[in-house]
Amino acid sequence: MGADRSSGAAPVAVLAMSPFLTPKLFTRAQLDRLGRLCRVPDERPLSDFGEARAEALLAEAQVLVTGWGCPLLDAPALERAPRLALVAHAAGTVKPLVTEAVFARGVEVTSAAAANAVPVAEYALAAILLANKRAFALQRAYAAERSFKPMLEAHARPLGNYGRVVGLVGASRVGRKLIELLRPFALRVQVFDPYLPDEEARALGVEPVALDTLLATSDVVSLHAPSTPETRHLLDARRLGLMRDGTTLVNTARGALVDHDALEKELVSGRIEAVIDTTEPEVLPADSPLYELPNVFLTPHIAGSMGEETQRMSELVLEEIERFVRGEPLAHRVDPELLPRLA
Ligand SMILES: NC(=O)c1ccc[n+]([C@@H]2O[C@H](COP(=O)([O-])OP(=O)(O)OC[C@H]3O[C@@H](n4cnc5c(N)ncnc54)[C@H](O)[C@@H]3O)[C@@H](O)[C@H]2O)c1
Repeated sequence: MGADRSSGAAPVAVLAMSPFLTPKLFTRAQLDRLGRLCRVPDERPLSDFGEARAEALLAEAQVLVTGWGCPLLDAPALERAPRLALVAHAAGTVKPLVTEAVFARGVEVTSAAAANAVPVAEYALAAILLANKRAFALQRAYAAERSFKPMLEAHARPLGNYGRVVGLVGASRVGRKLIELLRPFALRVQVFDPYLPDEEARALGVEPVALDTLLATSDVVSLHAPSTPETRHLLDARRLGLMRDGTTLVNTARGALVDHDALEKELVSGRIEAVIDTTEPEVLPADSPLYELPNVFLTPHIAGSMGEETQRMSELVLEEIERFVRGEPLAHRVDPELLPRLA
């Protein structure tokens, strides 16, 4: 089963994703590079395995280059792709498309989650630095009061980016990238992650702590754990209550990590502040107070790759396909054993 890489013939690559995505995701130069690595019978991506072109393309596909909008790769789909050996996902999580059947067939899977982690970490870094200055709340207060009074009053509480404490939940790909980005700043970084050995945390230059301690001692808490049954409502009413008055919660991970009813109560009371990119549900109900609260900076799931940033994911996938063609091990292989605790 799979591509015969010993024959020297270029494997056949087929794209499967939303057709609206490809022009931005793959530049002309990137598609040309794919064409030099593989034989690409049709550059137009499949977005529905029921369409007329799908049968012939799937029958010869050895490499499936997937992206957002790729149909489910279940047993019936795999039956139609008997030569498939590699799924190269030019996006983050493979969970919405890759089923057990893919791994059971021995098809290798790689994902660009590491490339997608970069803009999320950059966004979280910006959020942390601005939250420590209380920039989000003070922008609203300045506009409302047209005076420096709120800024002057802000000094009554800890403020700024010198010696303050950042608490990261999850040493994930995003979490680790953020640790790296935070290094030049005069901030103390502590981390909670049940899968991160203490010595590894120290090697990363961060302090491993229990979740309750992290919440009670951080000026900004930034969430970077995946949404799994284990992390559902990880921040419940009790844990949100541990955050000190005036501190900030940053969520660029998933809304499911936080009990949103409890969060709403804390935010409506004005006790804590929040920068929220991911909510539960998505989109929030039209009457949610989170849209208007002065202590909430709410964005529509923009931390991950957007626009040109998506080309970083294509680049990673092309490098993986090159390794595959050369018969080298993949650098970002998705391990089905680890998948339950990954994003
Ligand atoms: N806002 C966006 O646009 C956007 C884009 C990409 C990713 N995300 C989200 O960012 C988060 C991180 O993504 P990733 O790809 O870096 O994740 P990942 O797959 O690298 O995370 C897995 C790691 O998380 C840690 N972890 C697992 N369970 C944990 C727990 N119970 N408590 C604390 N840590 C735990 C472990 O270190 C594990 O190895 C995810 O929630 C993901 O959905 C959001």
